[in-house]
Amino acid sequence: MFEHIERVPGDAILGLIEAFKKDTNPQKVDLGVGVYKDAQGNTPVMRAVKEAEALLLKNETTKTYIGSHGAPAYGEVVLPMVLGEGSPVLEAGRASATQSPGGTGALRLAADFIAKQLPGKGIWVSDPTWPNHHGIFTAAGIALHKYPYVDAENRLDFDGMLAALKQIPEGDVVVLHACCHNPTGFDLSREQWQTVLQVLRERNLLPLVDFAYQGFGEGLEEDAYAVRLLAESLDEVIITSSCSKNFGIYCERTGCLIMVAKSAEQMENVRSQIAIVARENYSNPPAHGGAIVSEILHSAELAAIWREELTEMRDRINTLRRDFVEALKPYGLDQKYAHIAEQRGMFSYTGLTPEQVDRLRDEFGIYMVRSGRANVAGFSHENLPYLAKAVAAVN
Ligand code: LMR
Repeated sequence: MFEHIERVPGDAILGLIEAFKKDTNPQKVDLGVGVYKDAQGNTPVMRAVKEAEALLLKNETTKTYIGSHGAPAYGEVVLPMVLGEGSPVLEAGRASATQSPGGTGALRLAADFIAKQLPGKGIWVSDPTWPNHHGIFTAAGIALHKYPYVDAENRLDFDGMLAALKQIPEGDVVVLHACCHNPTGFDLSREQWQTVLQVLRERNLLPLVDFAYQGFGEGLEEDAYAVRLLAESLDEVIITSSCSKNFGIYCERTGCLIMVAKSAEQMENVRSQIAIVARENYSNPPAHGGAIVSEILHSAELAAIWREELTEMRDRINTLRRDFVEALKPYGLDQKYAHIAEQRGMFSYTGLTPEQVDRLRDEFGIYMVRSGRANVAGFSHENLPYLAKAVAAVN
């Protein structure tokens, strides 16, 4: 039965984890998968998380199912984190939260919902986008299209994006990255978001806002600007949020699908359908990650510790961006790579070609995605001189 099955190459991003582990170069640097790293190159458990887990261990009374929408206590804290305290959307009862196995799980729920409830609608993703967007939406049977996002000079191509959005058939779905665009790190300004909003309205397009990196760009509130703008201005919005990254609980797979509908009544209808989609995929989400998040955000003390730790991570990444460009100065490459200091979030679309990326891996043990995407969190003050020297050597 299985004789005809062909072997396929593994996932381009996750495959880097294995390849990096196997490399024996003592100077090797991992700029691959999007996880935060500290100055020692570790991805530690955050202090707030450790404390929350200790409390959970002590107080937990059951491991029973938490339901297809997940724990209500999780939704209770994620909704205001994403949509804002006192959000008019929340006050009107227009938003529903469904805990999901990571942001990826939320995307798959959204994809299955779209395929089932909005048949025939296409979905539009930025070019480039997180490669798994292609896999998830295609697997759900949705026709996938692209709109431009970066130009030939590796800069944000807002005009190209806008022109393309204006041509999208009415009622189609548009995937937008709320902040910390993956893979480029190029984010829209507030004015640009206002313009996008107008086009979404004019063309009656349904935004699916991927919000995987809240807190890694400018700040928890600042990064939510686009999400809140769209949710407060439009009747319907789909939001896929993740706490896996900003709480550093990657392996606990902690996401949330937020469906915003025109009225509380319509929201309940949509919500009932999402429960079915979750049930058909995995029944109930895993509980632990959501329990950590709700333990932290229900405690003023733990929430304050967490916010401080998140700020530290964000500041570290932004400092390293600037310092990397500085380290390229002696090689006369600081202008060429100045955009790295301007981009936001964990990722930088460096502008390095696939051939340069291969050379960095083979000659220097530096690993990044072949698109030229580097995880900036893998920079450290220790490895910056080595990275700069290597980038200069392949230029
Ligand atoms: C990434 O883009 O590196 C992360 O989102 C991890 C993943 O699942 O690809």
